[in-house]
Amino acid sequence: MLDSLILLCLGFCLLFFLFRTKRPKNFPPGPRPVPIFGNILQLNLENPINDLKKLSERYGQVYSIYIGSRPAVVLNGLQAMKEALVTQAVEFAGRPQGLMVNHVTEGKGVVLLNHGPIWRDHRRFALMTLRNFGLGKQSMEERILAEVSHLTSHFEKSAGKSTDPQTLFHKTASNIICTVLFGTRYEHEDETLQLIIRMITENAKIVNGPWGMIYDTLPLLRGLPLPFQKNFKNFETLKKFAGDHVAQHEKSWVPGEPRDFVDCYLDEVEKRGDDDSSFNKSQLIFYLLDLQFAATDTTSNTLLTAFLYLMTHPDVQERCQKEIDEVLGEKAQASFEDRPRMPYTQAMIHEVQRVANTVPLSVFHTTTKDTQLMGYDIPKDTLIIPNLSSVLNEESQWKFPHDFNPSNFLNDEGEFVKPEAFMPFSVGPRMCMGEGLARMELFLILVTLLRRFQFIWPEDGGVPDYTPVFGITLTPKPYKLGVRLRGNQ
Ligand code: HEM
Ligand SMILES: *[C@@H]1O[C@H](CO)[C@@H](O)[C@H](O)[C@H]1NC(C)=O
Ligand SMILES: *[C@@H]1O[C@H](CO)[C@@H](O)[C@H](O)[C@H]1NC(C)=O
Repeated sequence: MLDSLILLCLGFCLLFFLFRTKRPKNFPPGPRPVPIFGNILQLNLENPINDLKKLSERYGQVYSIYIGSRPAVVLNGLQAMKEALVTQAVEFAGRPQGLMVNHVTEGKGVVLLNHGPIWRDHRRFALMTLRNFGLGKQSMEERILAEVSHLTSHFEKSAGKSTDPQTLFHKTASNIICTVLFGTRYEHEDETLQLIIRMITENAKIVNGPWGMIYDTLPLLRGLPLPFQKNFKNFETLKKFAGDHVAQHEKSWVPGEPRDFVDCYLDEVEKRGDDDSSFNKSQLIFYLLDLQFAATDTTSNTLLTAFLYLMTHPDVQERCQKEIDEVLGEKAQASFEDRPRMPYTQAMIHEVQRVANTVPLSVFHTTTKDTQLMGYDIPKDTLIIPNLSSVLNEESQWKFPHDFNPSNFLNDEGEFVKPEAFMPFSVGPRMCMGEGLARMELFLILVTLLRRFQFIWPEDGGVPDYTPVFGITLTPKPYKLGVRLRGNQ
């Protein structure tokens, strides 16, 4: 008995010694880590928000935690964020490698690629393609408006009642990106659409939850049949989905006459010839899934937040409707060009994005070389966690940091202004690639729906709860949306 106890103690000491985690010299301060696990045992993994809040209060703007044996630096506040992601753009533009998310995506796509030529070429290609739409005969705006009309008819059917918006906006966002990528949309009841959304939601949960953390911190367990294997299985289904679309495109593609993103990519593969193999079919499949992922939860959770606040702030809703009515007059449809004449509506949309805080910790970065930040030394390959939430709520940056108030984006003359601390899409060379698309979607969807409907908090809806559900993307707690046709229509 004593023997085994001593052996156990010895074993622990050895483990401690072997996996000793020691902060590098002049590294940002933080709580003391334990071997192997780092600081993760000190966090509630289902929802670490409160634990992390205490840490940032204690250690300041730039602090460090250990995720397993891996040191990570958390950036809080506008100053740290700018000094890192903008001033030292290249130094802070890496992405972590060797995690579950890298393994399921087989090191391809764009979101998780490390800083380097493959990432740069693919990023540049997509930004250009998305900007030039362009694609075939239908503009980006037309693609979005076509999808909005399906949303409108859904709400027409629910007029006078309340409806559950939970999956509705997911389908809208998913269909819009599908139209851009593949030139296809799905009926809301379509099994493929529902399957894709389910897999994306499931995978996001696994990656973000305790099993993802276990996979990333304890490599020895990776081969075992634990719940994280589901993620790999789901990805096979997703790959087949994107692969089928690509195969169909290869049959009908006319070089130089692109209909959508896939066609543009096929053109690019041909243009580059065989020697540049970083543009190839397998890379394309993961690229498509990356864009599908990046575009769906983000946009739909922002919309869910928008309606939660619009319903519970009828004064803001009415003021937007008045402005929209005045500017659009008899026009059949809203257009993105109408934006400058709608300062209040623009302010409302930006304020929604600020409070929605949709991607609170951005996507993790890494340092690409040894560097310094705010007096600390940060070695190459250190995990960097940009706390966007801390900037969107920073007390010194906003007139009304803790309220939902479009005045955060209006000057004394009632003109629209965008403070520097507005960074829901992050900043720097890794900044969201879909910003243009997302802003167009939010504008056209919100303006079209507000013009036609009034949204009211249902009588049986209980007390509104603004506390979001934690995840890679934050989402409001499920609620019901009361819909009325507007009187003047
Ligand atoms: C309201 C909607 C959206 C929000 C709030 C949002 C936010 C973000 C954030 C915070 C990042 C991380 C940036 C960083 O690492 O510093 C990001 C990356 C990215 N987003 Fe978005 N996003 C939205 C919509 C979209 C859409 C519609 C697309 C589709 C084209 C998209 C594509 C991407 C891609 C590809 C990246 C990775 C960029 C890179 O690694 O170089 N996003 N987004
Ligand atoms: C990010 O900032 C918010 C607001 O300041 C804070 O509540 C949260 O705990 C911070 N997260 C981390 C990881 O430091
Ligand atoms: C396709 O390109 C990716 C990088 O974009 C590369 O990792 C992969 O090896 C290439 N595959 C083939 C079959 O050439």
